[in-house]
Amino acid sequence: MQRLAPALREDNVPLDLISLIETILAATKEISFRVSQGHLSDSMGSTLDENIQGEVQKKLDIVANELFKDILLESGFVKAVSSEEEDTSVAGVEDGKYIVSFDPLDGSSNIDINSLIGTIFSIHQAPTDMAASNPDMFKQSGNHQVCAGYVLYGPSTTLVMTTGSGTHFYVLDRTHGGYLLVERNLQVPEDTQEFAINMSNQRFWQQPMQNYISDLLAGDTGPRGKNFNMRWIAAMVGDIHRVLTRGGIFTYPADNRNPEKPYKLRLMYEANPMSFLIEQAGGLAMTSQGRIMDIEPTDIHQRVEVIMGSKNEVEACLAYYK
Ligand code: F6P
Ligand code: MN
Repeated sequence: MQRLAPALREDNVPLDLISLIETILAATKEISFRVSQGHLSDSMGSTLDENIQGEVQKKLDIVANELFKDILLESGFVKAVSSEEEDTSVAGVEDGKYIVSFDPLDGSSNIDINSLIGTIFSIHQAPTDMAASNPDMFKQSGNHQVCAGYVLYGPSTTLVMTTGSGTHFYVLDRTHGGYLLVERNLQVPEDTQEFAINMSNQRFWQQPMQNYISDLLAGDTGPRGKNFNMRWIAAMVGDIHRVLTRGGIFTYPADNRNPEKPYKLRLMYEANPMSFLIEQAGGLAMTSQGRIMDIEPTDIHQRVEVIMGSKNEVEACLAYYK
């Protein structure tokens, strides 16, 4: 099996971008270790308690955020970072060539139940005409990503990543401490009989999504003429990993629970990187209005409707909105 750096060189990824990716992955190895230690590590728990030595016990998502921020800002490759855990962007070095958006620990409600969690990241080229402290650098559409990926801290620690030449699948080999390429060019099957949605929000969805899901639930006696299975991991990394490996449709649709907040998932460090991975694997990544990666961002933390996965199923869903 091939190691990460030679695999990236084969795809003509520039050397400084390879170094940046390796920097990100160094942090994921430490998080992977802490996650595997579970309650033996001092980063579990949902409050900022003091431990017996009077030290503050941090939640794992705070620990992960600090780790990524420090390692990226010290690397010299990065002009600024933005994170789910930071109010605004954080400046790195003025001559840094890249900016990185990340969700340090996606699916945080799964931390304390020993279930799937992961890290999602997205890399853009840094604009040269803005200061490192200017958060407007991040207002670039997903189309301009130069790399996107996630690390899933599951029974094995897996990396799924794209630099624009296909979506490749790696596994962390603990015997030598590096990621090994196990599959090039993942392909999302075009058809599926599996969907992922938080059904408890059903009454809040718009009518087209209500109609689409009821037709799936009707199974082989309904208009779709086939039965569908449902899965919901409550961590986008886990659900998207399943979609990338065996197909499916994943959606977090608009809902009217809170009129101020019709969407849940974040564009910059959830929807865009996952869209890049899904599209590079032959799937579709949409809102009910168009491609996710075409959206021109207005805010680092903006939220967006997400309908992504197997091509024919995403199209079937979108037909209900026409
Ligand atoms: O980061 C947001 C997130 O945790 C995703 O990872 C996941 O898909 C979704 O929210 C879960 O939402 P809910 O709590 O509504 O099931
Ligand atoms: Mn998240």
